[in-house]
Parts: sequence; C-alpha cells; structure tokens
Amino acid sequence: MSVTTAIQLISRGEAGAPAVGTCSPNLARDPWAFDALPLPDYGPGASMHDAAPPATPRQGELPEAYRTAPAEELDRRILAAKEALGDSVVILGHFYQRDEVVKYADFVGDSYQLARAATERSSAEAIIFCGVHFMAETADMLSTPQQAVILPNLAAGCSMADMADIDSVSECWDQLTELFGSEPDASGRQPVIPVTYMNSSAALKGFCGEHGGIVCTSSNAAAVLEWAFERGQRVLFFPDQHLGRNTAKAMGVPLEQMPMWNPRKAWGGTDEQTLRDSRVILWHGFCSVHKRFTVEQIEKARADFPGVRVIVHPECPMPVVDAADESGSTDYIRKAIDAAAPGSTFAIGTEINMVNRLAAQYPEHTIFCLDPVICPCSTMYRIHPGYLAWVLEGLVEGRVLNRITVPDSVAEPARVALNRMLAVQP
Ligand code: 13P
Ligand code: SF4
Repeated sequence: MSVTTAIQLISRGEAGAPAVGTCSPNLARDPWAFDALPLPDYGPGASMHDAAPPATPRQGELPEAYRTAPAEELDRRILAAKEALGDSVVILGHFYQRDEVVKYADFVGDSYQLARAATERSSAEAIIFCGVHFMAETADMLSTPQQAVILPNLAAGCSMADMADIDSVSECWDQLTELFGSEPDASGRQPVIPVTYMNSSAALKGFCGEHGGIVCTSSNAAAVLEWAFERGQRVLFFPDQHLGRNTAKAMGVPLEQMPMWNPRKAWGGTDEQTLRDSRVILWHGFCSVHKRFTVEQIEKARADFPGVRVIVHPECPMPVVDAADESGSTDYIRKAIDAAAPGSTFAIGTEINMVNRLAAQYPEHTIFCLDPVICPCSTMYRIHPGYLAWVLEGLVEGRVLNRITVPDSVAEPARVALNRMLAVQP
C-alpha cells in the first residue's frame, strides 16, 4: 500500500487502514490547500514546527482542472504528455518521492546520483525534477544552459536547507575570519574550510566555491571531510549538524572539538577558545524527518525482531546512529537490502515513502520503518500528480512552467564547489 493510500485510509477511518496514525491530520489534505495559505508553510507533518522563512518560494494556484481531475484522468494525461514529448523530457525522482509520482520517473536515485543524472541527460530539453528545490537548483547548475529544469511544485523546499541562509553564514564567516585571520599555516592549510551539505541553497554552494570549500552528500561526506582536512585546519559544516557530527566522529574527531554554531546567538553560542581548539564547527541545522528517530525505537525493534538489522540515515541524531548497526545514504540503504540473504529483517531509519517502497520491492525480506507513525518528508510530498500533469502539458503546449534558474553570478562559484565534490571519490 502506498503512503498516500495509507494516509487517506487512516484519515477516513476505513477498514484496512494501518493501525498506527499519521504525524498530522493535515497530511490527508491536498497540497494546493497549503499553496493558498497567506504565509509560506512547509506543509503538514514532520516539519510543522519549523517556520518557513518569508523568502521561501511560493507556488501559485494550480489550475482547477488539475485540482479536480480524478487520479485515473491525471494518469492518462501524464502518460499521453510523456509520450508526446518523448526524449525531449526526462523525469528525475528522489527516493523519498511518493509512489503516485515516482512511477513516472525515468530515473530514481539519491541526491548524489540525481546530480550526476542531470549531467548525463544532455539530450533532454527539459528535466522535470520530482525532488526538492535545492536538488532542482543543483540540476540547473550541472545541466547545459539550453536545458530547462522544472520543479512541479515550487513549494517543495527543504526545511533543513532553509536553516542556513547566505546572510547568517557570511556573518559567521566574518567572525571566524576576525578570530583566525585568513593566512594559511606553515603547512599551507587555511584556517577554515567551508563544507556545505547538498541540502543547501545554490547561494551557499557558491559561497563554498568562493572560499576554497566544497559540497558533500550523505554518500561522500567522509571523503569530502578528508579533502577538507587536507586543506584546512578546521571545517565549518552546514546546515546539518547531525551529518557533520556523525561523519566526523566516525573519522575519530572528538566531540569536544566539534562546537555548535547557533546563528541566533552571539559568537554562535560558543567561545573563542573552543573555536580555536575546534576541528569541525557544526551549524545548528537538522532534518525534521530524521530527528524523529530514537534509540527507544531501535530497542523495541530488537526486542520484537531478534536478529533485525538496523540501518539509519546519517541525518539521524548521533545516539541513534551509534545505536544502529549501520548508517548510510539512501542509496547505501537500498544496496544493503539488495545484497542481503533472503529472509532478512531490516528496521530502517529514513523517510517512509522510501522504506515502504523497498518493502514492496523486496517481499523476500521483512522491512519496516523504525518510526511507527507515518510522517513523510512534508515538502517533497507537496508534489502531487496534478502538478506533474500541469508542467508536462505546459511543455506539450510550448510553455515552460516552474523553471528553476540559478543566476550565473551564483552558479559559477557553486559549480566550482560541486565539481570539487564530483572529483572526490567516495
Ligand atoms: P540522500 O543524499 O541520501 O539522497 O538524502 C537526501 C535527503 O534529503 C535526506 O533527507
Ligand atoms: Fe530536507 Fe529532511 Fe526532506 Fe531531506 S527529508 S529533503 S533533509 S526535510
């Protein structure tokens, strides 16, 4: 059963509904209900306590025909538009995308693979990105200028990416430069190397490009940190504190050398000596989906299923990663399940659409999500087949809707940081 079907059955209290609930009754509402709100909103669910910044992109009203069309009609229209467009369009889908949308994707992958896929589909005139805003920006920067990257719902953002903005990172950088200066040490290492997680705005990737820094994803974070330590005395890692902490800890960096920088506090809420002693300065950002996973859920899974293999995403808090058997990117999780002996049992700590899809794809295993409550990535969930039909039919009519373009002044330095990442072998 798809996550969307489960949510609908739960909300209607119908027979066959999963016994557990959802993290918000608003999940059962159509995404266009949130497009109509006067203030930007991350939508229902995991991110509901995060306030969306005023500059968050907004989606205008989806035309009524797409809001009211039954699922079968949207299906027919999407397939007909895809057929008419042929190879001129490619649809990319992230592993967390809902089944009702991801089934139309020509390629499904993690954020690193999707970034690469965008560079490899040079014949497509349009790339429809069924992921979130930062992924579409990256695809725009890595594709050719002739290609249009389209995000079907502009409100499909990422609350974690929004936790670090260019102004607060620049302010932090200025303070660090005041403290450490900008001269390399005797072995040529810079005082600080900025590293941004892929889940960040193009502006922050550009910042890294301009300041000798680099981008990482959850599948190459250790190799990227290695790259940064070769070139710097310490790293400023944003926006995800958990990926930074989990990766650096696994590389042997002591916790006391990883202070947190909270942009809402003076000197980030830390002090001069701690910063001088630091190896990794962690930004105060997190993913609201992965923050839900707990050590208690792992203990329960082990009590209920002796021998269970617990794999979590490195965006989970450190105690959860430490308690799990393994941690890795979405593609790592998929490969681990694919390589397991039939009859294995997996408890997974990542987004529910991906976990349920893996459970359906690998019926020879028992696969379940550590969090019993259904709570998808609320922003990715804003992409509904109605928006996909709308942008595809727009292309058939010669109209490019919801194009994501990164200005050259930002894209050029951002590509420097992205290409540094693509050159690092995980
Ligand atoms: P991956 O890089 O593993 O695809 O994860 C992206 C993401 O947004 C996780 O929350
Ligand atoms: Fe952002 Fe978390 Fe959604 Fe990933 S799962 S896109 S980090 S909000």
